[in-house]
Amino acid sequence: MGDGLIYNTFGLKVTAARLLEYHNEDELRNFIAEGKVQSPFLHMGGGSNLLFLHNRYEGTVLHSQIKGIEVTSENDTDVFVRVGAGEVWDDFVAFCVQHGWYGAENLSLIPGEVGASAVQNIGAYGVEVKDLITTVETIDINGQKCLFQQEDCKYAYRNSVFKRPEMKVYFVTYVNFKLSKVEHYQLDYGTIRKELGDTSPITLPLVRQTIIKIRQSKLPDPKVLGNAGSFFTNPIVSREKWQNLLAQYPNMPYYEVDEQHVKIPAGWMIEQTGWKGKSLGKAAVYDKQALILVNLGGATGADIAALSDAVCQDVSKQFGIDIHPEVNFID
Ligand code: EPU
Repeated sequence: MGDGLIYNTFGLKVTAARLLEYHNEDELRNFIAEGKVQSPFLHMGGGSNLLFLHNRYEGTVLHSQIKGIEVTSENDTDVFVRVGAGEVWDDFVAFCVQHGWYGAENLSLIPGEVGASAVQNIGAYGVEVKDLITTVETIDINGQKCLFQQEDCKYAYRNSVFKRPEMKVYFVTYVNFKLSKVEHYQLDYGTIRKELGDTSPITLPLVRQTIIKIRQSKLPDPKVLGNAGSFFTNPIVSREKWQNLLAQYPNMPYYEVDEQHVKIPAGWMIEQTGWKGKSLGKAAVYDKQALILVNLGGATGADIAALSDAVCQDVSKQFGIDIHPEVNFID
């Protein structure tokens, strides 16, 4: 991130009025004490879940370069690890797999950094990062250290307390995780078992490789085609609504949520509207996974937002369900 250019996986050319990178908590505290962290500001991670609506962000962008993976304690069954917010998420997953620690492998290859993982509650293949987090360490806008227990983070599907507007004054500096030393796998989601086939024995590296293979077959590489992974969250609807739709679309996929609710894959609905593989200007709905919007080259944030609006409208018209971006829009 040199020259005020802000890296983002959509490949948008965006600059910021000021960019502040810090390597430890004291550097962040100093920026705050020197009055450099003034509104408007944006604390960002790897830029893999942001849509900049303009080519210039007229404020201060803060980015953590706090690194380090440190075992804080362990016993016969578990290991407790403290990880810097600026570590690349997938490097941490690779580290866990190398050390024989179970729990993070289904989250292989998710782009972004460790700090943002705890804000966004990243998830894939039946695992969410909230399942592994014990505490989240932050520094607030006054330079005070503030520790959040997992239950204080109010984790939900792709959501946490840190996404609330009034919580943007807390900057995640470290995330503490609990991994298991006891061999266990979560293989029931989607096509994992099919991909694994008859291979035996099942090992952590094998599960990681399988997840990577599945992701690479569905998700475009941002270095080739700008994107931010799933653009929309999957809507959670009442069972009544779901049953009405099922009568109309008997092959509709869904996931159980609780006694009253089910989750419907937005990617499936978008495909039904006919948007899959279609473009609007230089933005397109990815042809292999309709939940992903891509930059065909030279798109602006506004182009991608316009496509998002058009897709949402058509899903709403056809299914009577409002879908919402998972990606954060930055004005
Ligand atoms: N589907 C279609 N057409 C499409 C896309 C999907 O019919 O174009 C159907 C699939 O056949 C399947 C269902 O929709 O029956 C779900 O698809 P998939 O398993 O690909 O997952 P998803 O719901 O589209 C979610 C997460 C992904 C995560 C995968 C696997 C969200 C918003 N997205 O996608 O997370 O990798 O499940 O667990 O929950 C991300 O957040 O950036 C992300 C990639």
